[in-house]
Amino acid sequence: MSKISMIHHINIQISDRERTREWYERVLGAQFLDRGPKLNQRQLQFRIGTGEIHTSDTPEVIEVPRVHFAIEVEDWDKMLSHLDSVGVDYSRTAGGSFGPRTADDDSQQGRREDTGEHYTYINDPDGNLIELVYHPLGLQSSEGAEVGLVTDADNVRWTQQSGFVEDAYQVEPVKSS
Ligand SMILES: [Fe+2]
Repeated sequence: MSKISMIHHINIQISDRERTREWYERVLGAQFLDRGPKLNQRQLQFRIGTGEIHTSDTPEVIEVPRVHFAIEVEDWDKMLSHLDSVGVDYSRTAGGSFGPRTADDDSQQGRREDTGEHYTYINDPDGNLIELVYHPLGLQSSEGAEVGLVTDADNVRWTQQSGFVEDAYQVEPVKSS
């Protein structure tokens, strides 16, 4: 078996691509991944941080209580102010799904004892539950040495074949409807 290096993407159910794209760009600073017209048609893909989110279109999203994914936030206070400014509610209990509280918790955010992790929950327009986390103690290597997450200001991305998207648009021009 090969060692697994990281989780590459998660796939979420969505009912409206435009709405999803707009929301993730505005609320979480997601970046649309342009794969060319043919692949873009297959699914909406975008990048947040170093990971990717891919989507499955469905007319009716099946909500499963407590199922969620979590994303690491670089500046916690800045993120919460941003959520306030764009009018996205966040809560420690995600509508009562998660409890109980510790001494440092409030109704909007909590702290975990072991890592000092800050956490809160938001929902995307389809109800997908997203946990936001921040780790003040940072990351460490397997030997316990402090390591940084990424050094690229805009985060790393997976290398795409050179010219792939440009060629894809030339072979199959976007239809204007
Ligand atoms: Fe979680």
